Amino acid sequence: MEESLMQIKNSAVSMIIEAEDQKELEEIKLQFLGRSGKLTLAMKGITKLPTGDRREVGQLANEVKRVLEESINERSNSLKTQESKKRREKIDITNPGVRPDIGHIHPMSQVLYEVVDVFKGIGFQAADGPEIETDHYNFEMLNIPSDHPARDTQQTLYLDTRQSKVTPGEIILRTQTSSMQGRIMEKVKPPIRIVVPGKNFRYEQVDASHGFEFWQVEGFVVDSNVRLTDLFGTIEYVLKKLMGEKTKIKFATTNFPFVEPGVDTYISCTVCNGRGCSFCKYSTWSEIMPAGMIHPNVLKAVGYDHQKVAGFAFAIGLSRLVTLRYQMDDLRLLTNPDLRILEQF
Ligand code: DAH
Repeated sequence: MEESLMQIKNSAVSMIIEAEDQKELEEIKLQFLGRSGKLTLAMKGITKLPTGDRREVGQLANEVKRVLEESINERSNSLKTQESKKRREKIDITNPGVRPDIGHIHPMSQVLYEVVDVFKGIGFQAADGPEIETDHYNFEMLNIPSDHPARDTQQTLYLDTRQSKVTPGEIILRTQTSSMQGRIMEKVKPPIRIVVPGKNFRYEQVDASHGFEFWQVEGFVVDSNVRLTDLFGTIEYVLKKLMGEKTKIKFATTNFPFVEPGVDTYISCTVCNGRGCSFCKYSTWSEIMPAGMIHPNVLKAVGYDHQKVAGFAFAIGLSRLVTLRYQMDDLRLLTNPDLRILEQF
């Protein structure tokens, strides 16, 4: 019995080593380890042996089985690597290649670069700042103390600071790029002409005209002789450059704690040019650019002498500008990765 087990082992192993493909290996496996395979049958025969011999022969049979299984696995793995090597070798390098799709700049970025260029053309610089911001720069420095009702309008997303030493509520996702006013003015002395494009975040129900993240281009000018008419002139110039010379522009008063007076800028609907249509929901005007003269409290907070310098600030709703420019009726299209949409720009 021991001898026949050894024979089984030797012949099986040499067959396994010589197997040329997975199919052959599978057949060998069946031949020895299948239900009526040679080793299986031999193992069944062990029960007929005298009790004294069973244990030793049984152990040997198990050992043979283990060796066969291992050899089969090993051979199977080496066949697999050989096969994949062969497959690779089969590549015909004279075949013409598949041209990968070439991407292009996203419509948001296209308009963003254009906006920055227009401002650069009239002497502005561009700056960048953190999206994770402190309450201090997002609110306090902008004349919005902790009990100010304006905070309710800025659905703020707070970072969980429980694992740190930071005071709860101090670290937030910025709700407005105006947060960069304090950061920049603290460091730079007037004259300042700067634009800060950036993403903002608010706890908003997402729909066709609201996103939980949106782009703004914040801008501000501080100098010794800045007046409200400078604000009007700058905004009108920029919006006409961006939306076309025929664009009608109107200003209205509004209220933001960091400007006095506050100004809302509207442009005539880009589809009906002010006649009324379903795109503008017959309002004929779209609010696009809140602005105002920088509040003396903001100037004081950054250490400027508000008797000597004055400034204006504004924010272009960039996502809004892009949807108006391309007459999109849903903001969500701007973050949709579907190439059928993106390829149109
Ligand atoms: N930061 C304001 C907001 O997101 C918008 C704004 C209004 C910015 C007036 C300004 C400004 O610079 O002067 O709600």
